[in-house]
Amino acid sequence: MSEIATLTLPDGKRISLPTVVGTEDEHAVDISRLRSETGYITLDSGYQNTGACQSAITFIDGEKGILRYRGYPIEDLAKHCSFIEVAQLLIWGELPSAEQRAHFSEILAEHSTLHEDFRRHFSGFPVHAHPMSIMSAMINALQTYDLPGMVIDDEDQFERVSGALISKVRTIAAAAYKSSIGEPITYPRYNLKYVENFLHMMFSRPFRDYVVTAEASAALNLFLILHADHEQNCSTSTVRMVASGGANVYASTAAGVCALWGPLHGGANQAVMEMLTYLRTSGMSVQDYLAKVKDRTAGIRLMGFGHRVYRNFDPRAQILKGACDNLLNSLHISDARLDIARELEAAALSDDYFISRKLYPNVDFYSGIILTALGIPVEMFTVLFAIGRMPGWIAHWKEVTADPAGRIYRPRQIYTGPARREWMNRFQREKGTTDSRGFTVPDDLLAKPMAQ
Ligand code: ACO
Repeated sequence: MSEIATLTLPDGKRISLPTVVGTEDEHAVDISRLRSETGYITLDSGYQNTGACQSAITFIDGEKGILRYRGYPIEDLAKHCSFIEVAQLLIWGELPSAEQRAHFSEILAEHSTLHEDFRRHFSGFPVHAHPMSIMSAMINALQTYDLPGMVIDDEDQFERVSGALISKVRTIAAAAYKSSIGEPITYPRYNLKYVENFLHMMFSRPFRDYVVTAEASAALNLFLILHADHEQNCSTSTVRMVASGGANVYASTAAGVCALWGPLHGGANQAVMEMLTYLRTSGMSVQDYLAKVKDRTAGIRLMGFGHRVYRNFDPRAQILKGACDNLLNSLHISDARLDIARELEAAALSDDYFISRKLYPNVDFYSGIILTALGIPVEMFTVLFAIGRMPGWIAHWKEVTADPAGRIYRPRQIYTGPARREWMNRFQREKGTTDSRGFTVPDDLLAKPMAQ
């Protein structure tokens, strides 16, 4: 039996509220009867204390720096799994058997190409279009080529649509990049694995095949695993919100792409690299930059730092920091921005402004260095994040739509606009004012109602 919390309201009403305890001993007060029984709602700007749902997909302990997908520590998954195995784990709850893995790979390969007509859409965008705009538009457009996929009513169909989305999102990303640099779109290859196929589509040219190295493929695999899910973040909550209204998985995940784009969320990886590039080219010292951040009047933040949930360290950032060193060493690349990033991190972590606010490097702080070493242009960073997050979004879409007790997400609000007021016609509203032609609204018109 759950423990009961009692809430006493200013009007003296008391309500007993059940509490809910999660697998990892997280506690919540269930307020679902609060409004109907008391007339009160809860108010929680930015949802800092609000559990929007119960979910069995990902667990985070922000104080201890723990991240687990379906119970497995992120460190173990990052070390031992392919991105596709992690995708299957997130969506179906278990790591796949050899047979399930082979079957899903077949689906991915089968759906890696785009319909020939679909490819024409890419030429409809201006060359300077941001690939995130193209990505969200194209995922939405995909459903027009998959009418049966809009209503999913059996497991096989869901598996096909999930595989098609995970596969095609990478083809779309590479095609958007190729279009933006004026090169022909590269077709996927049936015999290449997921990550290798993406790098092939990004960098092979009609006259020269790109050779994917083991180091590059491992680094990108790691990047995608670390981005695959992160419970109720901004974009995933958006996907769940859209899904709760009954929207199909294409529409819901396209909305997730839009939500991901902002610089406070997935767009931070691009913003971090731009910040590091600025520091490198301007020669501004790390200390001067941090002084600007702390000054607050400049309105800049230390991008890639801070997190709503992690108040100690972000385990993804730690893994990526190690991977940066390994990748740059193995590719014999030196990037001054990695040194600047290390210097920024060390300076911030010993500065009281950041210590007192519990601000630590997040997943975006080091990811850009890895993507740059792989040759991925900075505008594509958030697109890569979206490719990685797609399995998580699909898993959450499934969880929302499969919940028999599910209801449309519909938060309440406390209204702060004007109280009821009387309607007046334009002459009444503009009493005594003079318009651009010098016409002053005369008093005798004020009493007459306007012809409708
Ligand atoms: N640089 C400087 N100050 C910061 C930063 C930062 N990166 N992040 C937070 N702060 C300060 C805030 O100004 C605030 O200070 P105050 O209490 O004196 O007003 C305090 O720390 C708390 O910050 P909030 O914005 O209230 O924290 P919130 O949980 O709402 O925001 C967020 C989290 C958006 C990630 C924030 O830390 C941030 O803007 N970071 C930079 C952008 C970034 O890296 N985003 C990627 C996040 S990871 C992801 O989405 C994939």
